[in-house]
Amino acid sequence: MPSSTEEAISNSLEIEQPHLLPHIPYLLQDLWALGSSVDQILEIVGSLPLSSVDTTLLDLGCGKGALSIQLAARYGFHIVGIDAMTTFLETARNKAEEYQVPHLCQFEEQNIVEFISIENHFDLVILASLGGIFGSFESTIAKLRTQVRSDGYILIDDGYLRDQNHLNRKGYEHYRDHENTIRELTAFHDILVHEVNTTSTNKKINEDYLKLIGKRCRELGLQHPELQKDLDAYFQLQEEECHILNHEVEGAVWVLQKKEMHHNTV
Ligand SMILES: C[S@@+](CC[C@H](N)C(=O)[O-])C[C@H]1O[C@@H](n2cnc3c(N)ncnc32)[C@H](O)[C@@H]1O
Repeated sequence: MPSSTEEAISNSLEIEQPHLLPHIPYLLQDLWALGSSVDQILEIVGSLPLSSVDTTLLDLGCGKGALSIQLAARYGFHIVGIDAMTTFLETARNKAEEYQVPHLCQFEEQNIVEFISIENHFDLVILASLGGIFGSFESTIAKLRTQVRSDGYILIDDGYLRDQNHLNRKGYEHYRDHENTIRELTAFHDILVHEVNTTSTNKKINEDYLKLIGKRCRELGLQHPELQKDLDAYFQLQEEECHILNHEVEGAVWVLQKKEMHHNTV
């Protein structure tokens, strides 16, 4: 697990140049969702047997609130969104006003690793585009289970390797092939209720995002020539990530229903 909040944020946003972190809100200003498959998730969550009035969702690493706010606006769910980036949360709060759901959305600035150290009983916990912040899929599920009630749901938006069981690259240490990923996700005997492949939809979105980020990198380079080298390296990494996502990884959204393990007593 990353040792500091800054490192966790940088890992999740694929930033290897610490000087660039303060400029990330500028570079990502054209994006609302920061990597998650919003349309698919909205549809999947809408198909779960959750009633609008009583349902409370936890969105870990909510970014600018693209998922939280649209889930609140569409289904009337109450949402708690946690993120460590102040500027992203400001955008999230403004967007909640714009979508007329500020009464349903609570955005809090906190490290999600600390947040989940206390048990909760949400109806659904979402971890979308946070990679291996909690380690392997098995340890991720172990941690997310502490945040939902019995029979509640865990939604993960991530992926698995197409042809191999290990990829020697930063950020992909937790990736496995499909069979092993499912084995890890269900290690606690929860029920896998949905698995949706997001590869083809994400391909187009990732390519569009890359263009928008490239444009902002060029603008920022003109304003801050001293950052040019870092910006070039950052953009190259984004291109590489896009290539890997399109060629080596299958994107997936999984939903598990938490089942308590009952031990037979004598
Ligand atoms: C790739 S973005 C995904 C955001 C959002 N889930 C979405 O799909 O739009 C990852 C987010 O996780 C946040 N993050 C990463 N590590 C974190 C941590 N340890 N605590 C809180 N937020 C974290 C980052 O600030 C960023 O907003």
